[in-house]
Amino acid sequence: VKSWRGVIEEYRDRLPVTATTPVVTLLEGGTPLVPAHRVSALTGCEVFLKVEGLNPTGSFKDRGMTMAISKAVEAGAKAVICASTGNTSASAAAYAVRAGLTCAVLVPRGKIAMGKLAQALVHGAKLLQVDGSFDDCLDMTRKLSESYPIALVNSVNRYRLQGQKTAAFEVVDVLGDAPDVHCLPVGNAGNISAYWMGYKEYAADGVATRTPRMLGFQASGAAPIVNGAPVTHPHTIATAIRIGNPASWRLAEAARDESGGAIQSVTDRQIAAAYKLLAQEEGVFVELASAASVAGLLQAREQGLIEAGERVVCTVTGNGLKDPDWAISGAPAPVTIPVDAHAAATALELA
Ligand code: F0G
Repeated sequence: VKSWRGVIEEYRDRLPVTATTPVVTLLEGGTPLVPAHRVSALTGCEVFLKVEGLNPTGSFKDRGMTMAISKAVEAGAKAVICASTGNTSASAAAYAVRAGLTCAVLVPRGKIAMGKLAQALVHGAKLLQVDGSFDDCLDMTRKLSESYPIALVNSVNRYRLQGQKTAAFEVVDVLGDAPDVHCLPVGNAGNISAYWMGYKEYAADGVATRTPRMLGFQASGAAPIVNGAPVTHPHTIATAIRIGNPASWRLAEAARDESGGAIQSVTDRQIAAAYKLLAQEEGVFVELASAASVAGLLQAREQGLIEAGERVVCTVTGNGLKDPDWAISGAPAPVTIPVDAHAAATALELA
């Protein structure tokens, strides 16, 4: 049995690396494509979850970060910087450690989940909380990377999307062809663009016979692409996608239009319901933003955008453990009992 080698080694011939590119990896990718029985029953579709929360730092960002950090090292960078709603910073911090680089991150104060903050800090990133939005943070990191010797590893770095396209390869490699529909949450709009690149590449090379319709879902309080205008004060419980002016806006629109897909919004209420559905009926614990893909699938199916019998992949982008505060706030408080089996039996309604 050969073990998984990370996305650069697994897809080396499809990525912009050479024999001398130093490969900085935590063996990301190779994530499971889990059949979603309950969501399939609800929709009449054949639904799979691409569980990206099982990457090394708990989100899909690792696929792009292995590329961005490897290329940064190849170019001689000593430091990297990113803006983040949390997951990019966690990933950048970990891969920077791996490469021996300094990592700086700018995050919107009070708007990133606790687990992500913990990751960046434990990996030793220089973390600045900005009194502003993610979009403000991204503007600042762009300026800093232009003025100082520090490499930008946000998804405006073209190597990021190259790495992230490997998720589409994996879906086709497992299913034997592209699905009918692929559903994703949309924030800065890099990931939907990366998947579309991957699907197009496999179809152009005859590895797949077709491409899927790409369906992207923004939170209704942070839906610039749906509204057709930037959102100055984006708001949503799904902090990972709380973004008002996505960097890959045009690429995401191209993915939508070329694939015959759609970009829609889903409400926080729909996102929270899908989060609960995944946790309590599929056994898959994701973060809120990730649940937007499934909330969107349910909505699109209801609207007739997806037909019964179609094969659908939903990317669930990040691990539920990223945001323990949200998880606990919505759950019943645990019952405390003495060391007494009878008390346990009573509390468990066994007796
Ligand atoms: N889901 C999660 C869990 C995310 O962290 C993000 C983006 C997305 C979906 C949206 O992906 O930006 O490519 O459209 N998180 C970025 C970050 C912005 O800083 O971690 P996208």
